Amino acid sequence: MCGIIGYVGSNDSVPFLLQGLQKLEYRGYDSAGVAICTDNGLNVIKKKGRLENLVQEIECLNLPKSNLGIGHTRWATHGSPGDENSHPQLSDSKNIAVVHNGIIENYIVLKEFLIKKGKKFTSDTDTEVIAQLIDYMYNGNIFSSVINAVNKLEGSFALGIICRSDPGKIIAVKKDSPLIIGCGENENYIASDIPAVLSKTNRVYRLKECEIAVITQESIKLYDFEGSGLDFSFETVDLDSSCAEKNGYEHFMLKEIMEQPDVIKKTVFPRIKENQVVFENFDLPKEYFEKLKKIYIVACGSAYHVGCSGKYVIEKLTGIPVEVDLASEFRYRSPIVDNNTLVITISQSGETADTLAALREAKKYNAKVLSIVNVAGSPIANESDYVFYTQAGPEIAVATTKAYSAQLCLIYLLALYLSKILAKIDEQGYINYLSDIILIPEKIKEIFEGIKNIRSLAQDFFRISDAFFIGRNLDYAACMEGSLKLKEISYVHSESYAAGELKHGTISLIEDNTLVIAVATQSSLIDKIVSNIREVKARGAKVIAITTHANFYKISEVSDHVIPIPKLSDIFMASLSVIPLQLFSYCLALLRECDIDKPRNLAKSVTVE
Ligand code: AGP
Repeated sequence: MCGIIGYVGSNDSVPFLLQGLQKLEYRGYDSAGVAICTDNGLNVIKKKGRLENLVQEIECLNLPKSNLGIGHTRWATHGSPGDENSHPQLSDSKNIAVVHNGIIENYIVLKEFLIKKGKKFTSDTDTEVIAQLIDYMYNGNIFSSVINAVNKLEGSFALGIICRSDPGKIIAVKKDSPLIIGCGENENYIASDIPAVLSKTNRVYRLKECEIAVITQESIKLYDFEGSGLDFSFETVDLDSSCAEKNGYEHFMLKEIMEQPDVIKKTVFPRIKENQVVFENFDLPKEYFEKLKKIYIVACGSAYHVGCSGKYVIEKLTGIPVEVDLASEFRYRSPIVDNNTLVITISQSGETADTLAALREAKKYNAKVLSIVNVAGSPIANESDYVFYTQAGPEIAVATTKAYSAQLCLIYLLALYLSKILAKIDEQGYINYLSDIILIPEKIKEIFEGIKNIRSLAQDFFRISDAFFIGRNLDYAACMEGSLKLKEISYVHSESYAAGELKHGTISLIEDNTLVIAVATQSSLIDKIVSNIREVKARGAKVIAITTHANFYKISEVSDHVIPIPKLSDIFMASLSVIPLQLFSYCLALLRECDIDKPRNLAKSVTVE
C-alpha cells in the first residue's frame, strides 16, 4: 500500500530516493517524504499529495549532502493524508526516523503505554508508535533496539529505519509486507519493489518473513527476530529499468494494454511443448485430481473476475465444480474446504492482504494451494504449494490490464491440462483448444486496429454519469471486468449485470440515453442477448455492443454501435472482449482528464484488509 526506499553509500542519497519514489508511486500517492541524516541531525521533508510536490519543495531547499536517507510514498490508512501523517515519522527526541508499509494492529495499546512514559505524539499514524517505541528502547545500538521493539509489534510491517546517534546504517525489517535489498557499488539500497533500484543494480535480495537486515555502505548482514545471523545470497534479476518506463506512451495503462499480446506469448508459449500443456514443478498425481471434489478460486478485484471466467472454462473442460469467492469473504466464512479441494488464489502483486489471509485459511483445512502470481518471491507465491507465474513484467498502472489477461490464459492452460489428465477431452478437441489459445495474441492485435472506432465512441459518451454492462455466462464475467475498469479510472458509476437478471430490478434505472454496453460473444446465447438489448433499447438506452464479426449484423440491428472482434472458441472469448472494454475505459478517462495511472483513493497493492 505504501512504497519504501532507502540509500546508504558514498553519494548524495536524495536523487536516488526521489527517483526510487517515482518508481514506487503506484503503491500509494497521498503524500511523499524523505528523511536524511546530516551533521545537523535527521532532516525530514514531507509533502501532502503527489511526489511532484515533494520534489518542488526539495528544489527550493538547499539541503546538505547526505549519504544516508529513507523515503516513502503513502496510501493513507491511519490518519488523514496531511503532512503531519506522512512518512518518515520521527521519534520525539528526533533520534529515530521510520518509514513503514503495513499496519500495526496493537498501536493503540503501545501508544497509551508510550504516552504514560512521557512520549509526545504529533500524528495519528500507527507508524509514529514504531519510531517512539524504538526510541524508548534505545540502548545506544540501533540494531538491538529495533529487535526489541519489533518483537512487541503485531500486524504487518516492512520498515526502513535510520538513527541519528548510530549513523551510517539502515535497519530494514520485513513481516508480511514486501521489502528488497539492492546491492550496489559502494552503496546499498532498500525498496518495496525491484524496479525502484534497477537504475543502480539488478543484484537483489528479497527479505523473507521476520528478517532484519543491517545495511551499511560496505556490508549487508541478515538476522532473524531473535538477532541470530542468517546466510543469504543475492539473485540477479533479468529486468532493466526501462520495464518500468512509459517508453513513449502517454500512460502506463495504454502501454500495458498494448503489451498484452507479448505478455500472453511469454506466459503461454513456454508452457506448451510438443502440443502438450506442461507445468514445471506441478507434480500432483493423477489420483489427486481424480479425487478432487471441488476447486475454489479465491481472489480480489480483477483477479476475482479472472476466477469468474475461470469457473466457466474449468467446469466446461473438466466437469469439476468450481466455486469463486472474494478473498475478503472467504477468509471469514468457514469455507467448506478439505484435502479434496484445490484452492487457486490469483494475484498480480502476490501481496494482497485478503488473498494472503484466504490462502492461509485454506491451508488450515489441508487443501493444496495453487497460486497464479505475477511478482516472484511475493508472500502469496512463497506460501503456496504450487505457483504459476504470469510473465507480465512490472505492471505500474493501478488498473490492471496485462496481468489480468495473462492470468486468464493460465487458467485456460490449467483447464486443458486437467481435462487431459481426467480424460475429459479427446485428442482433437485438445489440439483445437490449444491452437486457439496460441492465436489469442494475434487476435488481440487485430482488435487494436479498431482503436479509432473506440476512441470516437468514447468521444460520444464521455460526459455520461452511469453505464451498465450486460452479458451472459462468460460475457457476464467479462462485463464485470469492463465495469470495474470504467469506474476505477474514469469515475463513471457503472454496474455489470447478468443480462437476464436486469429485468428483476435494475432495469428501473434505464432511462433515455443511459449507456448500456452489451457483450455478446457466446454463440448459443446470441438470441438471448438480442432480446435483452431490445428490452433496454425499449426504455431509451443507447447500446454499444461487442460481438464477433459473425454476429455483427444480428447485433447491429438492435444496437446503436457495434465493436466487432475476431472469433475464437467461446470459452476463450473473454480474452478478446475485454480488450475493447479496456480501451473504451482508457479513452473515456482520457477525455474526462482523469489521472489514469493513479486514480483517486486507490493504490496498486492492497496490503491492508
Ligand atoms: C484492478 O484494476 C484493481 N486495481 C484491483 O481490483 C486488483 O485487481 C485487486 O486489488 C487485486 O490485486 P492483486 O491482483 O495484486 O491481488
